Amino acid sequence: MSRAFNFCAGPATLPEPVLKQARDEMLDWRGTGMSVMEMSHRSDEFVAIAETAEKDLRELAGISDDYAVLFMQGGASSQFSTIPLNLLGDKTTADYVNTGIWSKKAIAEAKRYGDVNVVASSEDSDFTTVPEQSTWSTNADAAYLHYTPNETIGGLEFDFTPDSGDVPLVADMSSTMLSRPVDVSRYGLIYAGAQKNIGPSGLVVVIIRKDLLGKARKETPTMMNYQVIADNGSMYNTPATYSWYLAGLVFKWLKAQGGVKAMGEINYRKAKKLYDFIDANDFYANPIEPRFRSWMNVPFTLADDALNDDFLKGADARRLLNLKGHRSVGGMRASIYNAMPEAGVDALIQYMTEFAKERG
Ligand SMILES: Cc1ncc(COP(=O)(O)O)c(C=O)c1O
Repeated sequence: MSRAFNFCAGPATLPEPVLKQARDEMLDWRGTGMSVMEMSHRSDEFVAIAETAEKDLRELAGISDDYAVLFMQGGASSQFSTIPLNLLGDKTTADYVNTGIWSKKAIAEAKRYGDVNVVASSEDSDFTTVPEQSTWSTNADAAYLHYTPNETIGGLEFDFTPDSGDVPLVADMSSTMLSRPVDVSRYGLIYAGAQKNIGPSGLVVVIIRKDLLGKARKETPTMMNYQVIADNGSMYNTPATYSWYLAGLVFKWLKAQGGVKAMGEINYRKAKKLYDFIDANDFYANPIEPRFRSWMNVPFTLADDALNDDFLKGADARRLLNLKGHRSVGGMRASIYNAMPEAGVDALIQYMTEFAKERG
């Protein structure tokens, strides 16, 4: 067996030790005679797995008791509607920042439930920058301010936390969660689809300040009501047990790596290496304003699009997989989340160097 370097944006590569542990525990989880997949979610064993995962996440991300941590389902996309349904309360408007495709999806969904005020957009520049906060037209009476700290498709990442004053700040951290330290106390709500830095797809982690619970509109589906999910320890219905367990293994792995501070240093180094290479080589280009380049998703183009297929074929042959850019933007994209080893980035740079030399 040989593991490839998988640069997929999500579902993404998982830490190898996590996969090995899951394999070893697959048929008989610690003498129970069954897989975690086969356990009752009400069993003492699974409740312990779930509670440990939450405790480890709280420790890793520095989440205080003022926040509830929810392990929900339906991916990050389901949160695009769950958020307005729960947080609009008796208000009619929410503020949104538009920095790319995922912001736009969140905006489109929120418009079904209330008035959306797009406070700033970088669409005019093809989402290659983040508008300075001083230019935003925020509304002090908005129910919340939503933004996407890392646009997975465009490779655009905020290098600052917006100041939302008394308005709760809501962040889609799907592709940046746990990649570096974040001051959770600045946020009203953070959500993240699991399939990049946390675990398998489908699971979505929601971190919500407790005073924001209990405001759901009455037509909110029960399964989308944060208060109900919080009151039931994310077990109002059968949770995604195996995904929750795997997320727990990833949290343990992260702790063993030195936590999010250590990961942040490694991630910065990995991204810098790749961007420095791209900038130094005329054959490759990345369009994002350097300050806002994503540490997690690195899109790049070749000097000639006609070479894209050959580039991808050569990459596949070297087991450097899933480098094709999103269908909406083309080119290439290397997603280098927590679980992508530095050796993967080195192998990619080595290949890019040789390809440019031969074909450039
Ligand atoms: C920033 C961001 N938000 C939302 C989503 C949607 O996640 P899901 O497919 O889990 O609904 C993604 C998926 O890639 C994403 O990158």
